[in-house]
Amino acid sequence: MSVVHGIRTLGVLGSGQMGLGIAYVAALRAKVPVLLYDRSAEQIDKGLKLMDKLLAKDVSKGKIQDIEAKEARERLSVVSQEQGLKGLRDADMIVEAVSENLSLKQKIFSSLSSECRPDAILASNTSSISITKIAASTIPEGQSAASELGKQSAARVVGLHFFNPVPVMKLVELISALQTSTDTLERSRAFAIACGKEVTVSKDVPGFVSNALLMPFINEAIMWLEKGVATKEDIDKTLKLGMNHPMGPLQLADFIGLDTCLAIQQTLYQGTGDSKYRPSVLLERMVDAQWYGRKNGKGFYEYPDA
Ligand code: 3HC
Repeated sequence: MSVVHGIRTLGVLGSGQMGLGIAYVAALRAKVPVLLYDRSAEQIDKGLKLMDKLLAKDVSKGKIQDIEAKEARERLSVVSQEQGLKGLRDADMIVEAVSENLSLKQKIFSSLSSECRPDAILASNTSSISITKIAASTIPEGQSAASELGKQSAARVVGLHFFNPVPVMKLVELISALQTSTDTLERSRAFAIACGKEVTVSKDVPGFVSNALLMPFINEAIMWLEKGVATKEDIDKTLKLGMNHPMGPLQLADFIGLDTCLAIQQTLYQGTGDSKYRPSVLLERMVDAQWYGRKNGKGFYEYPDA
């Protein structure tokens, strides 16, 4: 028997490319009202413009009707800065999509746990950070991990890992923390399916299945560029045309964001202690130079429209 996700309202925390993409598929495909929160009003503005652009593009391509776009847009509302996280109180599930920083995520989940409904599913779109560590940060003050309240709070935390661009990529990787309950996992799976996605499940290991396999591949390609084995164009062309990848590894690194790639690679390196995951020096230097890829106009390639 299929599980009902029971999400009547979704909260999305972070309106960057991932958060907005998640809001988009939830509002359009799962037809769920979405409360969008970001601490930057400027980023919210950018996110809403992107939502309008994506809906208009889908209408112009005949993928959706005008009325569907209008209804999806009406399902999206913005939480005010004054309300802050309290504005997500009505949500049955909250998906966090902020930058890859463990202490930031722990702070956010600790606040979500005290500000939001005690039965709301708390999901992280993290690319590699331990869901078990994030779940532990939701234990209410004064409670232990073994107390009923401590167990209940951590049991509703799950990894819900979407891929970029969210409207196009067909996968959601579910990550089960040590504490995640079967109910949380199955309702999250049902919700991802309602968003039009296929689902895989990974244990909570550094990088999960997806990034533990993808990032070393990207990191290795950067090392080959560093060693001067081939030009960046030829490295990308080899994988694109030789292996039918939609993008070469350096193009893909720019697309994901070099800061995000470095953060994931560092998590793999620190989490396993295995030197094979050491980030490439060139990747570190590019991030030092604030060359973050497509999002800010310069990475391995240049993006004048960023
Ligand atoms: N948002 C929404 N839709 C987008 C989009 C975006 N940012 N970029 C492209 N699209 C849509 C286009 O509108 C087009 O739709 P259509 O089929 O209805 O016309 C379709 O995608 C194909 O786009 P284009 O024809 O413009 O360009 P391409 O054929 O080159 O495809 C691509 C672009 C889909 C991005 C393709 O290059 C691709 O699949 N690249 C690999 C992406 C990938 O691997 N993503 C995963 C990254 S890892 C990750 O996210 C995990 C994280 O934890 C790091």
